[in-house]
Amino acid sequence: MQLRSKTAFVTGGTSGIGLATAKAFVEQGAHVVLTGRDRQRIDAAITIVGSSCAGFVADAADDQAMNNALQQAAERSGGIDVLFANAGHYVHSALGGTTRAQLQDQLAVVANTFMTVQQALPYLRDRASIILMGSVYATMGPPGAAAYAASKAATAAMVRSFASELSPRGIRVNLVVPGAVDTPSWGMEELEAGVREERKRLIGERAPLNRMVSAEEVAKAVSFLASDASSGVQATELVVDNGTTGAMAGSPRYIRGEPT
Ligand SMILES: NC(=O)c1ccc[n+]([C@@H]2O[C@H](COP(=O)([O-])OP(=O)(O)OC[C@H]3O[C@@H](n4cnc5c(N)ncnc54)[C@H](OP(=O)(O)O)[C@@H]3O)[C@@H](O)[C@H]2O)c1
Repeated sequence: MQLRSKTAFVTGGTSGIGLATAKAFVEQGAHVVLTGRDRQRIDAAITIVGSSCAGFVADAADDQAMNNALQQAAERSGGIDVLFANAGHYVHSALGGTTRAQLQDQLAVVANTFMTVQQALPYLRDRASIILMGSVYATMGPPGAAAYAASKAATAAMVRSFASELSPRGIRVNLVVPGAVDTPSWGMEELEAGVREERKRLIGERAPLNRMVSAEEVAKAVSFLASDASSGVQATELVVDNGTTGAMAGSPRYIRGEPT
């Protein structure tokens, strides 16, 4: 029980990686407060995560709602031990077909992450752990994803500055960097089952381990960063990508000479 008696705050906990992490945190003994933008989705998530979980409607762009959720999380236990700033989304941004509004929508995720951390500061205990959400796209140069890649690279940069600023309080700040994770964000839920599985297989072939990462695998990495097991880990990045960035030449697609 690595997180016994700790209070963890997870933004975007209704789906995918956030939901899997909320569940993993509770299994490790934590009390979890999660956020999302829709009450029904939050209630459904609480049902999945279990009784040691509460949820608040708080758009990450809404400072007042976020502050309210953070305050209530801290009031319950006297302080927040773990902050996982996970909420985010992908906006396609091919050169020649992207509006300023789409760019701003994507880059707002960075502002939301910054404000989440800043607003959490009065409620975080000394020696708390903050985990921000990155992506391998920050370094892979994926076509059509410059805005998303920029937002994740900016988040990686924020981790390092935040860690410098918060080290005097013993607060650790790290980044989890997933590869292609099998979550609803890929928009495949509506596809016929056979088509969906074939798409997942093709996406998975970009990784040497020849499969997509599961949300639960990312949750395990986040749980490590959240726990005292990582007490000496500060201002770093934990990549969970089945080898996509570290050993690209080992991926089935690369070996066959196909575009990755
Ligand atoms: N899936 C991947 O391959 C992958 C890879 C690398 C990084 N990531 C990152 O991982 C994070 C989670 O993605 P996911 O794949 O788990 O997606 P997901 O299944 O679509 O879940 C996204 C979660 O974020 C919440 N959310 C989105 N915008 C929000 C906002 N403005 N305020 C509050 N909550 C918000 C959603 O809640 P509601 O919709 O209920 O409000 C939902 O709980 C994102 O930052 C994403 O960029 C994903």
